[in-house]
Amino acid sequence: MFSSVPFYRGDPIYSLFEEYEKDPRKHKVSLSIGVYCDEDGRVPYMQAVKAAEDEIARNLGARPYLPMEGMRAFRTAAQHLLFGATQEAVKSGRIATIQSVGATGAVRVGAEFLRVNLNTDTAWISDFTWETHLDIFEASGYKVSRYPYYDARTGGVDFGAFCACLDKLPSGSVVVLHACAHNPTGAELSNDEWTKVAELMVRRGLIPFLDMAYQGFSKSLEEDAFAIRALTDAGASFLVANSFSKNFALYGERMGALSVVCPDVAQAENVLGQLKAAARRTYSSPPTHGARIIEKVLTTPALNASWQSELESMRERIMTMRHALHDALALKIGAERVNYLLVQSGMFSFTGLAPAQIDMLRNEFGVYLVNTGRICLAGLTSKNVEYVANAMAHVIEHVKP
Ligand code: LMR
Repeated sequence: MFSSVPFYRGDPIYSLFEEYEKDPRKHKVSLSIGVYCDEDGRVPYMQAVKAAEDEIARNLGARPYLPMEGMRAFRTAAQHLLFGATQEAVKSGRIATIQSVGATGAVRVGAEFLRVNLNTDTAWISDFTWETHLDIFEASGYKVSRYPYYDARTGGVDFGAFCACLDKLPSGSVVVLHACAHNPTGAELSNDEWTKVAELMVRRGLIPFLDMAYQGFSKSLEEDAFAIRALTDAGASFLVANSFSKNFALYGERMGALSVVCPDVAQAENVLGQLKAAARRTYSSPPTHGARIIEKVLTTPALNASWQSELESMRERIMTMRHALHDALALKIGAERVNYLLVQSGMFSFTGLAPAQIDMLRNEFGVYLVNTGRICLAGLTSKNVEYVANAMAHVIEHVKP
C-alpha cells in the first residue's frame, strides 16, 4: 500500500541536531538549532517559569478541554505583550488572538485561514528565510516566491531592492516578514525602515504576515515589537505568529499565539470564529500547561520582572559571544571579513561559509552549522568561542568555497 511513499530526507535543522546529539566527541559544539543555551551549554530553566510551575503544581486539578481558541487569560496576556496593553486596537477588541501550537502552528493556521477565507494563493518570503515558511505555505496551497532581502556585501538588508519588489506585488499577496532577529541572517530593518514598509504595505493592499519567534533576543522585548506597532499605527490589517519557545525557554511546551489585526470588532469576531474552525479541524484545541505558566508569569508583577531580567541577561550573553567571536576572528582573518557579525543582531548570523567549509567544520572539528551558513550564537560559551574561531579561520583559509 505505501510503496509509493517517498523517503523523507529529514529536516535540515532537526536532523542535524539529531546527528550532533549522537556525536560522541567531547569538544563538539552545536551552532545549528535556534535554541538558547547558557554558559554550561544547557537550555535554562528560567526562575520565573519554575516559580510559576511550582505554584501551578500545588493547585493541579482536572484538565477539561480548553476552548478551540485557547485559554482566555493567556490570549489577553499575549496581546498585551505584543501590541501593548494601552494600544487602541487591543482596547477596542479588534484583534483576534488564538493560542497556537508554537509559532509554527500559528503560521500554518494563519496560512490556511487566509487561503480559505480570502482565497489568497500567492505568498512571498524573504531571500533567505526560515525554510519551513516555504514548506508551510506550499503545503497550504500557495505559490511561493522570494523577495530580495539579504545583502551579502554589507551583511545587512538590501532595503532598496526589498521595497522595489514589494511595490510591484499584486494587491492581496501575502508577505511573510520576520518581526525581529531575522532567521537565518540576523539582518534587521531599522525602525524608520519598518515605518516605510508599513506605509508601503497599506498603500499597496498587501497582507503582512509577521513571524516573531525571537522577541527579546535582538534589542529588548519592547523594541523588538516595533514592527507590530508600526503596522498597527499605519492602519494595516495583518497577522502575527509569535513564539514563547525561546523567550520562556519552553521549547517542548509548544506555546505560541496567532493574532489577526482587523479593521473593526465585527470583523475580528468573524475572524476569531474562522481561526477556531481552523484549529478544530487541525488539532481541536490547544494544551493547558504551557498556557498556565506563561499567563502566570506575564500577569504576576514579581514573576514578570524576574522573567524580563533573566531574558535580558540571556540576550546580553549572546551579545557578548557575538563580540567575542568577532574579535577572535578579526585577529585571525581581518576585521573586514567578519564585520557582518557586528551588523547583524539576535540569535543568528549569516557567515557566508560554503557547504564544503561547513562539512569540514562538522567532520574535522565537531562544530555544527546548518548548511546555509547560519550560525546560532547562543551555542557559543566563553569556553568554546576561541576553539570555534580557530576552526572557522582554518576552514576559511584552507577550504575553497
Ligand atoms: C531554528 O530556526 O533553528 C528554530 O526556529 C527551530 C526550528 O523549528 O527550526
